[in-house]
Amino acid sequence: MAYDVPSTSGRERLTIRGMDSIRIVISGAGKMGRQVAEAVAGEEGMEAVGYLDALAVGDTFGELPLYQDAILCIDDTKPDMIIDFSNAAWTPVLAEAAMARNVRLVIGTTGQTPEFVAWLESEATARKVGVVLAANFAIGAILMMHFAKQAARFFESAEIIELHHDQKVDSPSGTAKMTAELMAASRAKAFAHKKSERELLVGARGAEYEGIAIHSVRLPGFVASQEVIFGGLGQTLSIRHDTTGRDSFMPGVVAATREVMGLERLVVGLDALFGLS
Ligand SMILES: NC(=O)c1ccc[n+]([C@@H]2O[C@H](COP(=O)([O-])OP(=O)(O)OC[C@H]3O[C@@H](n4cnc5c(N)ncnc54)[C@H](O)[C@@H]3O)[C@@H](O)[C@H]2O)c1
Repeated sequence: MAYDVPSTSGRERLTIRGMDSIRIVISGAGKMGRQVAEAVAGEEGMEAVGYLDALAVGDTFGELPLYQDAILCIDDTKPDMIIDFSNAAWTPVLAEAAMARNVRLVIGTTGQTPEFVAWLESEATARKVGVVLAANFAIGAILMMHFAKQAARFFESAEIIELHHDQKVDSPSGTAKMTAELMAASRAKAFAHKKSERELLVGARGAEYEGIAIHSVRLPGFVASQEVIFGGLGQTLSIRHDTTGRDSFMPGVVAATREVMGLERLVVGLDALFGLS
């Protein structure tokens, strides 16, 4: 299946019209890596040429060659770019090898340190190599945050309810925290947070960030959802995003894969890639 993905530059059409497919190595043979392989297989003008996973055993994975060493993988498969969904301990090792060979990167692995991001930015700029780093590739989630940021100026009260599966280790979710930060940053003062006069159970009003109450629901059955509710005189505005599976990330990954071919620097976040910030 091919994804209908946005482009702010029109570069994707240039890529498709070109004679050669984008040669892609997939770093991380886990759940996301396998989803990426499926997405790439369904895309015109893209070809997966290998898996790279330092912890995986064997020399093939699915129908692709499997490598444990980044430099060996790059030298053997000669990729145009590498898509990384692995582990924050591995991404810097991968990035060092990729930059040494001037290979583009699309990184989805979360938990990167500010020091690593700063290093990557200067390497990518110095070498004129495109890199996209995004903690969230779900386009709907990016738009939900963007719209919440826009609305934040017009309402005095806001609350966030995020709903995730019960295996999630952190709360609130990174997306909820980032949404609250973006909303707060677009206003001159904190939101009005209505405290209960009598709190019958501690925590009933949720956590609080700059006057925004944040509530985390953890239940089997959810994947990832978030609702931002604004309250004003005689009206409320709700902005909701629901993820029903890992495939939700693939249109964003495919878009970044096409866009990175025309970049000569690091871009952080799909919002920046799509010109939303
Ligand atoms: N940016 C996004 O939109 C987005 C979406 C989903 C997941 N993620 C992130 O993608 C990453 C992978 O998620 P997943 O669900 O596929 O996980 P997973 O556990 O299924 O797969 C991780 C892979 O990384 C490899 N790995 C783990 N530790 C390693 C190490 N120290 N060195 C080398 N390789 C190592 C494992 O062998 C495994 O194949 C996570 O960081 C996750 O948070 C990002």
